[in-house]
Amino acid sequence: SAAEKGGYASFMLKEIAEQPKAVTDTLLGRIDGSGSLTLDEVRIPANVLREVDKVVIVACGTAFHAGLIAKYAIEHWTRIPCEVELASEFRYRDPILDQQTLVIAVSQSGETMDTLMALRHAREQGARVLAICNTNGSTIPRESDAVLYTHAGPEVAVASTKAFLTQLVACYLVALYLGQVRGTKWADEIRAVVRDLSSISGAVERVLGTMEPVRELARSLAGKDTVLFLGRHVGYPVALEGALKLKELAYMHAEGFAAGELKHGPIALIEDDVPVVVVVPSPRGRSVLRDKIVSNIQEIRARGARTIVVAEEGDEAVVPYADHLIRIPATPTLLQPLVATVPLQVFACELATARGNEVDQPRNLAKSVTVE
Ligand code: AGP
Repeated sequence: SAAEKGGYASFMLKEIAEQPKAVTDTLLGRIDGSGSLTLDEVRIPANVLREVDKVVIVACGTAFHAGLIAKYAIEHWTRIPCEVELASEFRYRDPILDQQTLVIAVSQSGETMDTLMALRHAREQGARVLAICNTNGSTIPRESDAVLYTHAGPEVAVASTKAFLTQLVACYLVALYLGQVRGTKWADEIRAVVRDLSSISGAVERVLGTMEPVRELARSLAGKDTVLFLGRHVGYPVALEGALKLKELAYMHAEGFAAGELKHGPIALIEDDVPVVVVVPSPRGRSVLRDKIVSNIQEIRARGARTIVVAEEGDEAVVPYADHLIRIPATPTLLQPLVATVPLQVFACELATARGNEVDQPRNLAKSVTVE
């Protein structure tokens, strides 16, 4: 009903708007006054976590994209090799798992059959399974060794938004916690990231306050057939997520690519006026990647693409090549997905609405997929 939507036209819009709070709630009580992580709920003993020699993340759809991003954080902060796999592919390839493998199953609903079957397979092989889940008492956390709940609150719209942001936060907490118990050499960086995480909710709030031009742009593209998304590093899964949102809501052909792959094939898709959303890495941190993506933007624009550039405030190098510029607050590289995804959610929601689609209940899709 209209009351349940709290004055918003759809649950999706309401849930997009709830993201700053969802992020704050997911951090609440998990960082102590000294900036250390207190994840007592992760009932896997520290000595077991110290022995972990491989992390495998299994998930589907948007939760899989959260896992792809988490890999960068886990490997960087812990130096433990991390694989990310679609839950539906995982058990069919006879994956290598043992007692020293930590499997992280990410699921909003906790009822996704593919993810459940993957974690059952992992436990049969002796691996420990940690669930990251948004639904209390659902099947996936019940069948796992431990659970870290995301506190997004109920997500009603089929398209996942606030659950995704909180999955990222939870994955980072796990990554930082692993670093903490294992005594990583990145201790200073971990403290800095914990501090930055605490202010990320405010950054998301600021993004939400600047979305009117994004909505306008989305409406102007309602007649297009295709939208492409490019990113690098953690911006690559963000590009995949932007494309998934557009497929499921706007029923358009949308594809995400790693920008470095352009010249290996996808650049052939660029033709006159095709919209290409480019997520630009932070110019601090991985500045080499930022420079490479700026030349990608030039290349596709020279071939006629309409460039929609998502870039940090203050990054001026992109300005001459952006037909449309979407600004996001500056964050450390690994945290950028928490702010960069938000305009892509708004973009997909508005574009779908402009095409006359029902955003909360896209055709052919269910909120949780309880069959394999
Ligand atoms: C996201 O917008 C989708 N509706 C879908 O990809 C979803 O993320 C996927 O089915 C996984 O669901 P889960 O998180 O409940 O396991």
